[in-house]
Amino acid sequence: MMSTPVSTKSKTQLNIRSEILKLQPNLVQWRRELHRFPELGFKETRTAALIATKLADWGIPFETGVANTGVVATIAGELGSSPVLAIRADMDALPIQEENIISYKSQIDGLMHACGHDGHVAIALGTAYYLWQHRSELKGTVKIIFQPAEEGPGGAKPMIEAGVLENPKVDAIIGLHVWNNLPLGTVGVRSGALMAAVEFFHCQILGRGGHGAMPHQTVDALLVAAQVVNALQTIVSRNVDPLDAAVVTVGEFHAGTTTNVIADTARISGTVRYFNPALGNLLPQRIEQIIAGVCQSMGAKYELNYQKLYPPVINDPAIAELVRSASVNVIETPAGIVPECQTMGGEDMSFFLQEVPGCYFFLGSANPDLDLAYPHHHPRFNFDETVLSAGVEIFARCVEKFTG
Ligand code: NI
Repeated sequence: MMSTPVSTKSKTQLNIRSEILKLQPNLVQWRRELHRFPELGFKETRTAALIATKLADWGIPFETGVANTGVVATIAGELGSSPVLAIRADMDALPIQEENIISYKSQIDGLMHACGHDGHVAIALGTAYYLWQHRSELKGTVKIIFQPAEEGPGGAKPMIEAGVLENPKVDAIIGLHVWNNLPLGTVGVRSGALMAAVEFFHCQILGRGGHGAMPHQTVDALLVAAQVVNALQTIVSRNVDPLDAAVVTVGEFHAGTTTNVIADTARISGTVRYFNPALGNLLPQRIEQIIAGVCQSMGAKYELNYQKLYPPVINDPAIAELVRSASVNVIETPAGIVPECQTMGGEDMSFFLQEVPGCYFFLGSANPDLDLAYPHHHPRFNFDETVLSAGVEIFARCVEKFTG
């Protein structure tokens, strides 16, 4: 890439902006290169190689192979090595066939960057480049964490286990998601819960099959499972405080084979979402009590497999305020800050936020005028690329405020 002149003046609003805007063509180019070659979780080898090549070209110290395909860059300021702020970007794509008609369409059959993680990598690279150019003015250290497998099974936890938050010890962490649920020119940031815990359950109801005309000789697993599905819907309506948001969804129900046979077994699966960590005990407990109680009353048995995937994303008030004030400087309108941006979607950024104070936020990226407003995980998902430089600027200003 072109080298950007290193500013020796104190960084006014204007020169941060103009310097980062010069990176915009590079940001677009990197994002489109990543978009062409999407990779699934823990298989992001080409993505990691692109990141490593850029970092090596610029002379930024980094480590590869962290939790398989993760990359960690460390930028130490020349005016002092602490505090330490981490910036996290996820790298993975989805098993979706892209339906966009664009010059940089996915070249990999059945795989697509349909969530915008290609943008996250480009923004993190741009931030690394900008901060490296300004390391002589930096009082503190910035770790850029390129994380695999956010879409599952989750790369944040193995990266933490590999020690990314140590040596040097990270004091706070920030991360962003380009967000088509918000329009371009807005930032969704809030203190406290932003995204929900993600949990799954799979339940097998074990009845006793038989002739459809002789139900008295059987235990109808299909009927038992139907009662379970109904009863599960009382958990949120009758066991959860109405002021706490929660979801219990049964998304799968499989039972039976034909008209005159009573089902021997039935299988139901679902997902559970909530913000308040206290519900992490209540919800699985009530689910099992209901399944056990219904089965017991109707003479069936059950096998239940309950999995906690990601905890809720909970932002620290002070770091959320840091991101909010940095974002106001970038979007230049306090009305563009949207604290009402909670979603029952989940994110494994939550594991980092359990370890150190931090803030995850949404960068509004929808532009309906350009037909860039499809939802995340849609085959025509795409976002307005002007958010790329805005993302770099928010990160750069967070670093300036945090280390300043
Ligand atoms: Ni995503």
